[in-house]
Amino acid sequence: MKLPVYLYGHPVLRAISEPLTADYPGLKELVADMYAAMYESEGVGLAAPQIGRNIRLVVIDADPVAESFPECAGRKLTLINPEIEILDGDKVTRSEGCLSLPGLSENVPRVEHIRLRWLDEDFKEHDEEISGFLARIVQHECDHLEGKLYIDHISNIRRQLIRGKLNNIVTGRTRVDYPAKYAPGAKRR
Ligand code: NI
Repeated sequence: MKLPVYLYGHPVLRAISEPLTADYPGLKELVADMYAAMYESEGVGLAAPQIGRNIRLVVIDADPVAESFPECAGRKLTLINPEIEILDGDKVTRSEGCLSLPGLSENVPRVEHIRLRWLDEDFKEHDEEISGFLARIVQHECDHLEGKLYIDHISNIRRQLIRGKLNNIVTGRTRVDYPAKYAPGAKRR
């Protein structure tokens, strides 16, 4: 099934997601569909709220950015109930985008050294120290599970400057070149 990406303004992106259990119906298919939606929209990560489900599930394939960020080479991760521990509080600022915020990118400060504990799609436990841009992707996606978006990490001034663009997404004036679900009440163009 082709999953649409839910866009900024949809309340599902602002809700806190529930832990996932192994008996969740159709989990394997859902994971496969999320990877397909991520590849179709040329993202490197996708969190379940972005396909309209408030469950603690994330898919990441960071390999496409490996040329700029070698730590991302071959890193394909399915994260179930992920938990992040910050290992080094120093923040680095880099540009980020999000499939739920089409046409936008902003500089976002984040820590670059984390410890990540998660379950894979077979509910096998993992525990790994992760750095660099991969740590950034993980934090961005895990934010989605808390109802947070990268624009929550930018300055008020920057947010004011992009208010018009954000509003265009909410109201359905932004064109999206992948299957997308607009906020309720959006006038899709
Ligand atoms: Ni995102």
